[in-house]
Amino acid sequence: MATHNLLLLPGDGIGPEVMAEVERLIAFLSKKSRAEFRIETDLCGGAAIDKHGVPLADETLAKARKADAIVFGSVGGPKWDKVKYENRPEAGLLKLRKELDLFANLRPAICYPALAEASSLRREHIEGLDILILRELTGGTYFGEPKEIVTLEDGQKRAVDTTVYTTREIERIVRVAFDLARKRSKKVHSAEKRNVMKTGVLWNEVTTAVHKKEGQDIELHHILADACAMQLVRNPKQFDVIVCDNLFGDMLSDQAAMLTGSIGMLPSAALGAPDPATGKSKALYEPVHGSAPDIAGQGIANPIAEIASFGMALRYSCDMVKEADLIDKAIANTLARGLRTGDIMQPNMRKVSTSEMGRAIVEDMEKLVA
Ligand code: IPM
Ligand code: MG
Repeated sequence: MATHNLLLLPGDGIGPEVMAEVERLIAFLSKKSRAEFRIETDLCGGAAIDKHGVPLADETLAKARKADAIVFGSVGGPKWDKVKYENRPEAGLLKLRKELDLFANLRPAICYPALAEASSLRREHIEGLDILILRELTGGTYFGEPKEIVTLEDGQKRAVDTTVYTTREIERIVRVAFDLARKRSKKVHSAEKRNVMKTGVLWNEVTTAVHKKEGQDIELHHILADACAMQLVRNPKQFDVIVCDNLFGDMLSDQAAMLTGSIGMLPSAALGAPDPATGKSKALYEPVHGSAPDIAGQGIANPIAEIASFGMALRYSCDMVKEADLIDKAIANTLARGLRTGDIMQPNMRKVSTSEMGRAIVEDMEKLVA
C-alpha cells in the first residue's frame, strides 16, 4: 500500500475547525485500508506568530518541502492586525507558495445541484456550472518589487505595488491551462488588461504565441479582466477554463465561488512544476475562503471547501482518484439530503454544525463503499 506524507497546516480562525473534519476523513480512509497516511501537523499564520514570532518557521518550511502534499486551512485575523507587515499571517502562506514555486492555482467552481437555489443568480444560470479558474500564483502584483510606502517631501505618503511578469512565467501557466482544458471542453479564456497594462500586453502576446505553437486543438478567447468579471455574473456557463494573473485570479475566484452558493464550498490546489526525476509536483491544497474570524470558535463553519481540498490532494498528489470521486459524491449526497451549514442554509433544510456536516459526509462514504 502506498504511503503518503501529508503536512497539515490548520492555521487560524476557522482553519483548525474545518481541518478537524479532514482528519476525520483521513482516519476513515486509513481504517478502510485505502492508503497509509503519515501525518504531521504544524503552525502557520497567526498561530505561528504567537509561538515563533514569524508566520512560517524554518522548520515548518523544511517539513513542507518534504511533504507529498500540504493541506492548508486559513490564516489571519484581527488579533494580528498590529504585527509588522512583513510578518503578518498572510506572509506565511505567500512564502510557502513562493518557496515551493507553486505557480499554478486551480480553483474549480462547481455548482452542486442541491445548491442551485442558494446562489444569488437564478437557477438557470448556474445549474450544472463547472468552471475552472487557473490563477498564476507566484508572480504579478503580490510579489513584484518595489513594494513600499514612502514618505514624500511634503509629508504625504506614496504607496507602490509592482506588477511584473516574464515570458517564461506566462508560458508555463498558459501551458497548464491548455493541458487542463484538454481534459475538459478544450476552451480557454485568457483574462488580462492589455488596454491599460504592459503586463496585459505581454500576457496577451505570449498566450497567443503558445496557442499558435502548441495549442491549435484549443479554442482560445482573449477577454479583458473587467469584462470577464461582468460576464461571470451575466452568463457564467459560457466559460470553462479561465487563466489569469495573480491579482485578477484572486478577485475572479472569489466571485466565481459565490456563484456556487457560498465561498465555503470552494477548494483549490496550488501546484508546482513536475519534478523531472519523479514526475511529482509540489502541492498545497487550501479552501478559497479565509479564516472567517467573525464565526471562528463557534463550530458553525462550512467544512466542505476544506474537505474538497483534501479530495483534490488525493486526486492530484496521492493518485487516489477513486477516493477523490467518492468524496465529491458524498458531499453531493449530503447536500441532497438537506444538510446545511449556516452559510448555505435554505428554507426547510436541516441546519448542522461543522462536525455534523463532516460526520455526515464520512457516513455517506461509509455507505458508498459498503
Ligand atoms: C486567497 C487569499 C490569499 C491571497 C490571502 C490570504 C493572502 O485571498 O488565497 O485567495 O490573496 O492569495
Ligand atoms: Mg483570495
